[in-house]
Amino acid sequence: MIGDKVADAFNKQINEEIASAYIYLSMVGWFEQAGFEGMAAWMRAQWQEELGHAMKFFDNIVSRGGKVVLEAVKKPKTDWTSPLEAFTDAYKHEQYITGRINDLVELARKEKDNAAEVFLSWFVSEQVEEEDSTQKIVQTLEKVKDTAGALVMIDRELGRRGA
Ligand code: FEO
Repeated sequence: MIGDKVADAFNKQINEEIASAYIYLSMVGWFEQAGFEGMAAWMRAQWQEELGHAMKFFDNIVSRGGKVVLEAVKKPKTDWTSPLEAFTDAYKHEQYITGRINDLVELARKEKDNAAEVFLSWFVSEQVEEEDSTQKIVQTLEKVKDTAGALVMIDRELGRRGA
């Protein structure tokens, strides 16, 4: 059985993960229109991953006898000035999500909910990866600035994730 406080917080996290997916899907649209097919493919994979994260929380609530309550999803940003700005937003967003996961771990400990704490440990590790992958792309894009040839190569490289 899941306690009300943890169930409420997990429901909020479903919304955070769906909102993350929505932000990345919005980036897919922007990358496609801007002609960065590889980055669009990378973000398409990211959008799917976020849906998977949302479903992990969803299924955890269900399997522990809690009630799933879905809320409205915030409208995401729709325009970026460059791939660097988009990936910087993604990196910042992942840092924000790491904060939310850490808050959930704190709550699970406070509520003495061991099952929740064990469940959340996967997300703690996942956030290290999520920050690392977006940060590396930001660093690469910062190096090349607006050099068209380099951007084409990075786009091709990132497209491998979606393939
Ligand atoms: Fe679900 Fe990218 O954190």
